[in-house]
Amino acid sequence: MRERSIFGLIIVTIALIAVGYLTATQVDFSGWLPFQASSRAVLVDRLFRLMMGIAVVVFLLVEGALLFAVIRFRRKAGDESEGKPIHGNNTLEVIWTLIPAVVVAVIGIYAYQVLTTIERQEGKPLVVRVIARQFAWEFEYPEAEITSSVLHLPVNEPVLFQIESKDVIHSFWVPAFRVKRDATPGQIDDLVITPTLTGEFPIRCAELCGAGHAAMTSKAIVEPREAFDAWLAANGKEPAPEPSAQAEASESATEKGDEETEADEALTGPQVFLSYGCGACHTLTDAGGFGAVAPALDGIGTRAGSTVEGLDARGYITQSILEPNAHIAEGFFAGLMPQDFGDRMSPEELSTLVDYLLTQ
Ligand code: CUA
Repeated sequence: MRERSIFGLIIVTIALIAVGYLTATQVDFSGWLPFQASSRAVLVDRLFRLMMGIAVVVFLLVEGALLFAVIRFRRKAGDESEGKPIHGNNTLEVIWTLIPAVVVAVIGIYAYQVLTTIERQEGKPLVVRVIARQFAWEFEYPEAEITSSVLHLPVNEPVLFQIESKDVIHSFWVPAFRVKRDATPGQIDDLVITPTLTGEFPIRCAELCGAGHAAMTSKAIVEPREAFDAWLAANGKEPAPEPSAQAEASESATEKGDEETEADEALTGPQVFLSYGCGACHTLTDAGGFGAVAPALDGIGTRAGSTVEGLDARGYITQSILEPNAHIAEGFFAGLMPQDFGDRMSPEELSTLVDYLLTQ
């Protein structure tokens, strides 16, 4: 009897380890996980696979033992006797303490190795400041003197993110890069990655930061170096590109002519609206804003003039942007809207935005 149960135990153990091993090595998780779009993604996913394999073994072991006990030791019909008094089992306790300790130690050592590898900085990275605020992301390229609401990155080149927050704690999360780091007010946190896949990948905020948290999204556009340089050239100071790229850039500039280049730089009303993240909180159908945190702006142009006595439509809209707490629409709260648009928007952008809203 005893020999039989030891034999059974060995069979079960081998079967469990085999299932765990197959889960870790054979299951195709690619349909469940985001794209592997950075060099760290491969290592992070390998760690995930190991932990998944171990978790499957633990799950089957615990649930299997539970099911076995429920069925094997159930009360027989007519059995009114009390259960055996059991006062613990030292051997069993040593075993179920030791095995998890070893498992946790193995995962810990392996995870530490992965962490030190992915945080190693190689070469001179492109510096991008990641600025979080309620409820939008801003990306600043200090060398090129560009700010953007969308993250542009050259493929296969290391990037150093310097993550900060202007108000509360946010979390910079790019699932495809396997990157998630808090943006904490009052400090700058570094993060290095190398994007390895071209395409567009979602950026989210992973820390509940207020009523507009769910809408605090953006995207990362990873593109070949030439496309990235072209974007830099079109949006700001040229970052001394390679000779061939320079020739191309100057050619296209001559073709376009000066006037058109200037027109390219000025943002339209909807562009100002979206680039400052207004659409995350305000619904404005024309510009593609669908937020529900703040008053809807459809029809604001016709409404604005009669909202506050003594303020015409232009005055009311301008004040609402610069001093959002001056008048709070019924059903909404003071302090939700950032109060620094006066510092962040140029006078031209502000008047473009106000002109645009007046037409809505
Ligand atoms: Cu920012 Cu959640």
